[in-house]
Amino acid sequence: MVQLRTVHAHNAAIFQSRPIVAVFAGATAGLGEATLRALAAAHGTKGKGLRVYIVGRKREAFQRIVSDCNRLCPAGQFIFVQSPDLSLLGNVDKACDEITKAEQENAKGEPARVDLLCMSQGDFNFDEYKETQEGIEWRYSLLYHSRMKFVVNLLPLLRASESPAHVISVFGAGKEGDLHLDDLSLRGTKVRGLLNVRSHTAYLHTFFMEYLAAQNPGKLSLVHVYPGLVMTAAFNNPGVPIWFKAIWTILTPITKLLTTSPAEAGERILFLASPLRFPARQSTEQNTAKDGAIEVGVAKGSDGKVGSGAYAVDISGEAVENEKAGYEKYRKEGVGEKVVAYTLKAFEVIKSGKVFTE
Ligand SMILES: NC(=O)c1ccc[n+]([C@@H]2O[C@H](COP(=O)([O-])OP(=O)(O)OC[C@H]3O[C@@H](n4cnc5c(N)ncnc54)[C@H](OP(=O)(O)O)[C@@H]3O)[C@@H](O)[C@H]2O)c1
Repeated sequence: MVQLRTVHAHNAAIFQSRPIVAVFAGATAGLGEATLRALAAAHGTKGKGLRVYIVGRKREAFQRIVSDCNRLCPAGQFIFVQSPDLSLLGNVDKACDEITKAEQENAKGEPARVDLLCMSQGDFNFDEYKETQEGIEWRYSLLYHSRMKFVVNLLPLLRASESPAHVISVFGAGKEGDLHLDDLSLRGTKVRGLLNVRSHTAYLHTFFMEYLAAQNPGKLSLVHVYPGLVMTAAFNNPGVPIWFKAIWTILTPITKLLTTSPAEAGERILFLASPLRFPARQSTEQNTAKDGAIEVGVAKGSDGKVGSGAYAVDISGEAVENEKAGYEKYRKEGVGEKVVAYTLKAFEVIKSGKVFTE
């Protein structure tokens, strides 16, 4: 496990070394908010410039968080991109268009770019299965489709970053269970439910991120992470049933012992943008850095190869152990290609204004 003090020092070194442009989705609460606060603190007063686009629903939450961030980082520019519902890919498109236009203006003659994209939009919600008007189960879309759409839409800006850009997606790396290859959208009545959404989100992140890393060598590093238990407001969401809230309240004294604080989780999630530990594939960057006496080695990619550009990790920044997930077998069977084709088709069909039914 990378020590917290190493994480802290390393984050300051990374985010003070050059001007940073970042995009956050899901940062009006919880882990995204904590990561945004960690970024503002890492940049602090010594950094060389910070511009952050925050896509979200609640302007008041943005204003409250940003007034704290501005205290930590007075030179920081924090821009709200309001979007009513990111489970709709059409809204993701609108938000990305707005970011692209704003960044072209804000870059003031420099190349418009994004150095870091951090996504944690999600709704811990036990409601019944419901498809969006675009045809995807809404929780699943928030966790997987909308996030990969952000990456694909912002690729020109991410590729314009001077050093390889970093993509972080916070949800459930290593939580693979069943994979329903004949129903990747999880429409069948027998495959619906939160556990299958969690499992598919983990598998599909791995395969699609590996595809993006291979398509963008030296340009893009992608990490998906399971944060472990972090006491955010997610457990009190309106969609969490009373019985769950009651059990959760009773167990709180015990669960508290097992949780990471939001502040530590934010710092550790930000660390996943370390170019030294999580380099882009074929990056020529130095692969080991020393912080005092502690080394930060290159992490193992989700394909098992060190530094391969797509990573599935836990909150401590270590590759998750998921041998049982059967990736080796699935890769031989061409499942990665199937997932990529499925994802790109969903994007294409929805972009054309049709409902996705596959
Ligand atoms: N906390 C944990 O222990 C834990 C553990 C494992 C996995 N996770 C996963 O990690 C992710 C982040 O967790 P968290 O604890 O930060 O959750 P959270 O506190 O509920 O924050 C979720 C964020 O997503 C946004 N969001 C929800 N629905 C949206 C929608 N339809 N359109 C746009 N934005 C939307 C929320 O916006 P608003 O502010 O507008 O509500 C908020 O900013 C989630 O996917 C969660 O399931 C969390």
